[in-house]
Amino acid sequence: MSKRWRSERGKDYYYRLSKKEGYRSRAAYKLIQISKKYRLLKAGDHVVDFGAAPGGWMQVARKIVGDKGYVLGIDPTQIEKFPWHNVEVKIGNVKDYSDMIHKIKLPKKKVDVVLSDVSPNISGIRDIDHVKQIELAEDSLKAASFILRPGGNFVVKAFQGDLLKPFVNNVKKFFKYVRLIKPAASKSKSSEIYVLGLGFNPPTNEVT
Ligand SMILES: C[S@@+](CC[C@H](N)C(=O)[O-])C[C@H]1O[C@@H](n2cnc3c(N)ncnc32)[C@H](O)[C@@H]1O
Repeated sequence: MSKRWRSERGKDYYYRLSKKEGYRSRAAYKLIQISKKYRLLKAGDHVVDFGAAPGGWMQVARKIVGDKGYVLGIDPTQIEKFPWHNVEVKIGNVKDYSDMIHKIKLPKKKVDVVLSDVSPNISGIRDIDHVKQIELAEDSLKAASFILRPGGNFVVKAFQGDLLKPFVNNVKKFFKYVRLIKPAASKSKSSEIYVLGLGFNPPTNEVT
């Protein structure tokens, strides 16, 4: 991390707010903004969060689902544990979703919401990063289709570029209502965008 990067981060509004409000990442505000606008999450929901480290989205999800809900965060990087009984962390790769999902003991067979803020190591070469990001978004969609209950909700990070439209069309096959969202906390210079799918309704030949 360069001196310049650290200095820019220190001036960033959402970074400072996350420190003040005790969130583990500035990314937390993206989920707060998405969830507020679209009612993605509600009290009592069971949630799986892919690409969850360091855990900002998990904190937001736990706040909304409360004591009666459940949040599982999965990341190849170790996530520091939380003090809540109904929040768990696991090491895992969204690409190994089918194997991983069978090994994980969820409290209920299916979950209400799948979150994915999974992001590759950024090369800085826009086209390469776009392809890698959409691949991870496709993996997240497949994982979601394994574990979501009918009517469940999904949000996934994507990068803008040629492959975004075909990806969104794919999401439309699985969800009744699909929207593209750029939350205020997502930096305007970043090509990052979120694809929201509400009301999981897979084609019958895709149900597992
Ligand atoms: C932008 S960060 C997520 C921030 C998180 N939403 C938060 O609020 O703290 C992206 C995460 O994706 C994870 N990641 C990268 N490749 C992954 C993969 N194949 N499967 C699961 N997670 C992955 C990274 O380790 C990183 O922690």
